[in-house]
Amino acid sequence: MKLAIIEGDGIGKEVIPAAVKVLDALRMDVEKIPVELGYGKWERTGSAITDQDIDILKSCDCILFGAVTTPPDPDYKSVLLTIRKELDMYANIRPIKPLPCVNGILGRNDFNFVIVRENTEGLYSGIEEIGEDASYTKRVVTRKGSQRIAEYACKLAKSRQNKLTIVHKSNVMKSDKLFLDVCRSTAAAHEVEYGDELVDSMAYKLMVSPEKYDVIVTTNLFGDILSDMSGALVGGLGLLPSANIGAGHAFFEPVHGSAPDIAGEDLANPIAAILSLKMLLEWHGNMTEAALIEEALESTLNRGIKTPDLGGSFTTEEVAESIVDHIRIKF
Ligand code: NAI
Ligand code: MG
Repeated sequence: MKLAIIEGDGIGKEVIPAAVKVLDALRMDVEKIPVELGYGKWERTGSAITDQDIDILKSCDCILFGAVTTPPDPDYKSVLLTIRKELDMYANIRPIKPLPCVNGILGRNDFNFVIVRENTEGLYSGIEEIGEDASYTKRVVTRKGSQRIAEYACKLAKSRQNKLTIVHKSNVMKSDKLFLDVCRSTAAAHEVEYGDELVDSMAYKLMVSPEKYDVIVTTNLFGDILSDMSGALVGGLGLLPSANIGAGHAFFEPVHGSAPDIAGEDLANPIAAILSLKMLLEWHGNMTEAALIEEALESTLNRGIKTPDLGGSFTTEEVAESIVDHIRIKF
């Protein structure tokens, strides 16, 4: 496997080295290509991502990414939007499920759903007009974009409980009518049981009865917000992994950002990054190694080895070392 490794900024520089330690412990045949991207690079060179970086990423089998800092500077081109667009990674997959010995905000562990977020259009189209007195961001919904994310979500639902919830706001934004219609007809064609919810009531329902949902498909911004909110159900943002999937490329990253408030202190929870590595290995077909990561993580949590965000007193490195130790014993 030719694997691009992007640490990025802030805690990306801590959680990705932790995940790489876990990868190394698995002793797989991986060619690791480090790629520097992000705000730090922008400050140093004036460019957060170059065409050459994109070419390197395109030449790899998959990508493991930490997080980048995005300043509110109109001249700064978002690294993530650029990568998602250039590599046409249209599906952002965010599994939300409880972990052993970790309490979420509701103290329950009877839910297991996946947010499938359209990743290339919606309000993150990048088509913007910024002015002194008025600014505009164009919200893009296309039949092609809606169709391919609906197909992805339906296939995923078929491999799970065959239940799809389409989340939209078509009562106010007419652009969502197209998304809703395409998702409905795709679900019907695939014989997937489906329903739909307006995004605001969905936010409420996810907090009150998360056990009712299986696969949730939605547009870009809504998926972004609902997934961070769902982090509270699991027990924190440091626990949620994600995959960005396109026709030819796949990119795996924690849902969280660069967390400047805790960066550089060895406090960041590396679990989201390590579970992102696990998703990467599953995608690549390395099921045994992925299962070993899960087992090692469970053993670590069962022994109370946790970072401060989960009420523990262990460091990023200590959590990673514990997972690595468990894997070494198994080999
Ligand atoms: P954030 O996700 O970085 O942090 C939100 C809160 O969660 C903070 O209190 C942070 O300490 C905590 N947190 C996040 N990850 C954690 C972890 N692994 N362990 C323990 N606690 C954790 O979101 P925020 O603060 O809104 O954004 C910070 C920067 O990150 C911004 O520049 C933003 O643009 C960028 N960002 C980047 C993303 C990416 O690269 N995929 C995604 C989201 C934000
Ligand atoms: Mg986000």
